[in-house]
Amino acid sequence: MAQNIDWSNLGFGYIKTDKRYVSTYKDGAWDAGTLTGDDMISMSECACVLQYAQTCFEGLKAYRTEDGRIVCFRPDLNASRLADSASYLEMPVFPQDRFVEAVRQVVAANADFVPPYGSGATLYLRPFMFGINPVIGVKPASEFQFRIFCTPVGPYFKGGAKPITIRVSDFDRAAPHGTGHIKAGLNYAMSLHAIVDAHNQGYAENMYLDPATRTYVEETGGANFIFITKDGTLVTPKSSSILPSITRRSLMVVAEKYLGMKVEERPVKLSELKDFAECGLCGTAAVISPVGKVVDHGTDICFPSGMEKMGPWTQKLYDTLTGIQMGRIEAPEGWIVEI
Ligand code: PLP
Ligand code: COI
Repeated sequence: MAQNIDWSNLGFGYIKTDKRYVSTYKDGAWDAGTLTGDDMISMSECACVLQYAQTCFEGLKAYRTEDGRIVCFRPDLNASRLADSASYLEMPVFPQDRFVEAVRQVVAANADFVPPYGSGATLYLRPFMFGINPVIGVKPASEFQFRIFCTPVGPYFKGGAKPITIRVSDFDRAAPHGTGHIKAGLNYAMSLHAIVDAHNQGYAENMYLDPATRTYVEETGGANFIFITKDGTLVTPKSSSILPSITRRSLMVVAEKYLGMKVEERPVKLSELKDFAECGLCGTAAVISPVGKVVDHGTDICFPSGMEKMGPWTQKLYDTLTGIQMGRIEAPEGWIVEI
């Protein structure tokens, strides 16, 4: 019941909403797709997703604007990234125009669950696909489901905008020529031990290094990095094994076009970290979460922005990005889809 939700105190958790979208792929074609109230999935014990993890997913949000409209942020980019993930995992692509239409349907059908403007919460949408027919030899499924459910969420990290402490991980989330660049469920399975271990040691997240040489910064389990130099340049790691974050790609435009900053996407050495003024994690769930400290095997790398609040450039990026997402600031053409 949406009426009973305490919007301002939501964490990043799952709350069942009214409707979700389902489409099935069988005999070489996607069916018409439909909204359903049923949140349960029934499948063979030998379904490809259960045995060989043939699944990929997306994450995007719907926002309530100050004047009460509901909007989504760049769903076309989620559609095309899911298409890339599906292709790489030998799954059929869900047509990208149908993806955006399904997003619209799910948000409209769950409009009561879109949190009020100013509550700090948003409606998180989780599109995903998986191989559903029985497969016992290692090969792709031939039948699939595409689904989108949604759930209202608050901040991904407890404390919201308070800087977090992360550690340099000894574990990898992606292999050098593996699946780091797509949003495959298996990447997240790879990160579960690392995140539990990080939490047990008091860290909010892992900083993964490049899996081949372990000298360059890659990303965290669920967000890309942005760094700000002392002279106000936004630097973000370039790597073939990180997920191309839609938030990060949007921030590069915001930095350059709205804030007049210089932007560099390039390999970032771990040894450079100590020279940056600010650091943040960016993603749909993370929005921009400031990082105050990175611990590298007992050595603290403390950013001058400190542990109390976001650095000034991170704050400007945050305000501009969320202003665009919530309709306070004019968006570049095509970024906002009204429901
Ligand atoms: N990196 C990883 C590993 C992620 O899971 C996510 C979340 O989607 C991101 C980065 C951020 O991507 P986006 O900004 O498209 O949400
Ligand atoms: C997102 O930001 O949408 C993510 O997928 C990150 C995490 C929740 C897995």
